[in-house]
Amino acid sequence: MHASVIEAVSGYYLHSNANLGGPFETSQASDAVLSGARAELAAMLGCDAGEVVFGANMTTLTFHASRALTRDLGEGDEILVTRVDHDGNVAPWVLAARDRGVTVRQVDIDPEACLIDLDDFAAKLSNRTRVAAFNWASNGAGTISDAAAMCRMAREAGALSYVDAVQYAPHGPMDVHALGCDFLVCSAYKFYGPHVGVLYGRAELLERIKPYKVRPAHDEPPGSWETGTVNLEGIAGTAAAARYLVSIGAEAITGYERLLTERLIEGLDRIDGVHQYGTRDLDRRVPTVTFTVEGRSPAAVAAALGAQGIFVWDGNYYALELMERLGLEQNGGAVRVGAAHYTTAEEIDRFLEAVAAL
Ligand SMILES: Cc1ncc(COP(=O)(O)O)c(C=O)c1O
Repeated sequence: MHASVIEAVSGYYLHSNANLGGPFETSQASDAVLSGARAELAAMLGCDAGEVVFGANMTTLTFHASRALTRDLGEGDEILVTRVDHDGNVAPWVLAARDRGVTVRQVDIDPEACLIDLDDFAAKLSNRTRVAAFNWASNGAGTISDAAAMCRMAREAGALSYVDAVQYAPHGPMDVHALGCDFLVCSAYKFYGPHVGVLYGRAELLERIKPYKVRPAHDEPPGSWETGTVNLEGIAGTAAAARYLVSIGAEAITGYERLLTERLIEGLDRIDGVHQYGTRDLDRRVPTVTFTVEGRSPAAVAAALGAQGIFVWDGNYYALELMERLGLEQNGGAVRVGAAHYTTAEEIDRFLEAVAAL
């Protein structure tokens, strides 16, 4: 977490710390924190402040949005999900569809590249599709989807696009209007902020689609989409995280992280018994690399690295569909190592030496 985020959170507690909409100083300060945060996130996402909704996390926002987006659907309607997505962008749609009698169609991936199969996406998209849910980058393979193409294809078919940008947000430039998505979600803790979810919704849709809400709460978006008392201290920190990310610049982050990704992939390639997953095309990767080591379980590899102060994950990281598609789920998934813009080449080398010495 960046220091400015911690200062913003403690600053909120020290100087504001009241509920919204009251006729007194601390409440007015809280109102200003919320509207300021919408503006900061709008600058980061390339949208208008009125298109920014805050929530508990990506998963909660997606359960909430999926219910609103499917409330008028029924038999004959379809929703597309993919085999590369985190379950946070699969299960909410599957469960909402089940409640409404809507059909869910699953878009396959190219298992070598771990990229969404665009031909399969096109084949499963039809004039019955109401929502297409897919990620911008995979947390399971570190691969970047052609989200712009899928948003365009969905729009042409008359479907809404719902993009999971949780994994992508800390690593690449975002402009939701240029991307052409209808909804996009991300999570501030993935871009050095607190545990807060952020939903972008196209203004006209936030207005037209009616979210589930309690009666006295705001009728106007974006407040109408925010349930209960929002996490204002977290939102203050989220604004600081967005400001930090914008101040570094996504292009600078992408350029530097590309070098780290290359070093990671090439280094792992040189180690006998290591198998990596996903495309080698650096234009289609964030610096997150998934691999297995012959003869060792992912849990054993992660534990051995953890004991040396190298923090990696093992398992499916909730990218359940992907791990099942790659045939890894029954063997404990895979090991995932991730770099960020503050990671050094020396740290990558230390990680590679530790894997080689296993
Ligand atoms: C790609 C992706 N989508 C969704 C999520 C879920 O986000 P949250 O924890 O904010 O619900 C994660 C979390 O790891 C993720 O990596």
